Formats: sequence, C-alpha cells, structure tokens
Amino acid sequence: MGQLVAVADSVFPTLDPARAVLSKIGAELSLANQPTPQDIIKVARDADAVLVTYAKITADMIQQMARCRIIARFGIGVDNVDIAAATDAGIVVTRVPDYCIDEVSDHTLALLLALARKIPFANSSVQTGRWEMSATVPIHRLRGRVLGLVGFGRIPQLVAPKAKTFGLKVVTYDPFVPPDITASAGVESVDFATLLKVSDYVSIHTPLMPDTQGLFNADVFRQMKPTAYLINTARGAIVDEVALADALDARQLAGAALDVLSQEPPTASPLLGRDNVILTPHMSFYSVESLVELQTKAAEEVVRVLTGQMPRNPVNPEVTTSRTERRPTA
Ligand SMILES: NC(=O)c1ccc[n+]([C@@H]2O[C@H](COP(=O)([O-])OP(=O)(O)OC[C@H]3O[C@@H](n4cnc5c(N)ncnc54)[C@H](O)[C@@H]3O)[C@@H](O)[C@H]2O)c1
Repeated sequence: MGQLVAVADSVFPTLDPARAVLSKIGAELSLANQPTPQDIIKVARDADAVLVTYAKITADMIQQMARCRIIARFGIGVDNVDIAAATDAGIVVTRVPDYCIDEVSDHTLALLLALARKIPFANSSVQTGRWEMSATVPIHRLRGRVLGLVGFGRIPQLVAPKAKTFGLKVVTYDPFVPPDITASAGVESVDFATLLKVSDYVSIHTPLMPDTQGLFNADVFRQMKPTAYLINTARGAIVDEVALADALDARQLAGAALDVLSQEPPTASPLLGRDNVILTPHMSFYSVESLVELQTKAAEEVVRVLTGQMPRNPVNPEVTTSRTERRPTA
C-alpha cells in the first residue's frame, strides 16, 4: 500500500501543488472533513505524515497517530502544534520559514498606508454618498515619522527598506538579533520601552510564544503615543484585544490594523465596527505564487522524511529521521 498523508485542515482553493509533489513517491492525500479533533484523527490515525494549516494538533491527538513520522506545517509559525509532545513521540515537526516574506511585508506596508491615509474610512464615506475631504482630517505626512518593528526576523527585514522609501525612520526591538544585522539594514536597535515611546507606527513581527502571548497589554498601550497606530500581521494572541479596545476608547492610541485575531473568525470582538480599526482575514501570506511555493515546500519536507532524508526546516531537529524510521508502524 502507498503512503498516506493526512491534511488536518486547508484554507487553500486547491491542494494540487502538494499533491503533485507527494505523487512522486506514490503518497496519497486525505483531507479531514472538518478541522475538528475527531475528524482530524480519523484521517491522521493511520497516516505516515500530517500536513496542517491552522488546526490545533494537541498532545492527545499526537498520541493517537500510530504511524506518523512528520507533522509539516503549511506556514511559518508552529504555535498550533504541541512540539514537546511531537518530540516525545519521535515525530519531526517542520515549517516553511521563507515562502511569503514579500507578501507579509507588502501587507504590513499596505495596512500602514491605509491607516496613514485613512483609505477604508474615506472609501466607505464616498460609497455612502459623502464626498468630504474634511471628514478625513487630520492626516500627517509620513516622511519623518517613526516605524517601530517588534521583532527583526525575515519579514520586518523586508518591511524596513520598503518603509524607508516612504521616508519613515525605522527602529526595532529584537533582543536576539545581532547588532550587525540591524546596523547593515540602517535600522536603530532600541529597547522595548523606547520603541513604544518614539514610534508613530508599531508593527508586530514576533512569533507567538509563552513570552509574547499578551505582550501588547494595557500597560504597553499606556506607553504608546496617543497619535500612534498598532499593526499586527504576526499572531492575534500577542495582543490583548480587550485592552486594545479599552485603549482606543481612552484615546491612548489612534488606531490599529490587524490581519490576525485571537479568535479567527471573530464572533464578538470588541474591535469590530470601529472607524479607526482595519481588519483583514489572516491573508498577509497570500498570493497565487506564495501558495504554490508554500504547498510545494511543505510537501517536499514530507517526501524527505518519508524517504529517510533530513528535513530542511525542522523545529525539533533532535528528532532525527533515523529515529523516526524506527517507530513502530502499527
Ligand atoms: N499573517 C500572516 O499571514 C503571517 C504569515 C507569515 C508569518 N506570520 C507570522 O509572522 C511572524 C514573524 O515572521 P518572520 O518570518 O519575520 O519570523 P522569523 O522567525 O524570521 O523572526 C522572528 C523574530 O522574532 C524575534 N523575537 C522572538 N521573541 C521576541 C520578543 N519577545 N521580542 C522581540 N523579538 C522577538 C526573534 O529573535 C526573530 O528575529 C511569524 O512568527 C508568524 O507567526 C504571519
């Protein structure tokens, strides 16, 4: 029998790019009916590999995956997979760290420009019969304003040069990035408190981890300029959304643009229905081209592991392919 690759969930119009790669080793794809633990386990229980987008892959589910050798994330962040449980079970977890750097950096700039120029508000005014430039005041010139990048990994390293072409000054807070990287990018490295104090736009680019969960809380919003805007294209749970809504009500900051929310899709978010909040449906990563690249690269990791090679981007490299090969297949 050929190898079986379970797909826990998919938001993609097609899985053809992944299917094309996996067909080279005769592996078949099986997509869960719904992204619920029960339906995912139905297809993952006897699968040799699991591909996952946003569905949570918990320790309990991992323990029921009798044959699985790799969980490959269709994406950059792996916060939805219990890495420790996968490691204990001898399952390699991989991610695709480099498929949508252009798209997310473009989307960050698109959100920044939409906030700065009040495009969504102006558009909905005109569409509802109000041709009033005066309704958009005040708008400030971008040149000379400060953009603070929280995290200076791959994506913000491409946001920085794009922002500079608009005349923005860029500062960053990332305690793990060596100074030569920020210096050669022409970006000033500052501590977190300074970034909050000086930035007119604060853009979040850290992974979601225990120490970044709720990092943007009431105390942080109090430290931002009342004229500042918050942009989040990273992960929703990095922002305390109730505290953000309170800070907007208290005019502690001017507005926000969020591509990610703590609950997706949102049901009763206090951020819905506000003129000074722009929301997009977790789409920063998307372009026709990035999706092909994402599915191809994630499926190639599956092929590598199922054919006894080392994956390129494991997040738990201590789990070697030789160890996974020794897993019982029953
Ligand atoms: N909205 C989307 O569609 C979308 C798409 C891709 C990625 N993302 C998110 O964007 C995030 C950033 O992507 P990337 O490619 O730049 O990641 P990356 O892995 O290249 O860089 C992450 C950076 O965050 C820094 N960091 C970690 N903890 C920090 C902290 N507490 N404070 C400040 N910096 C910290 C690290 O040192 C690293 O430089 C990802 O983790 C992912 O969750 C979202």
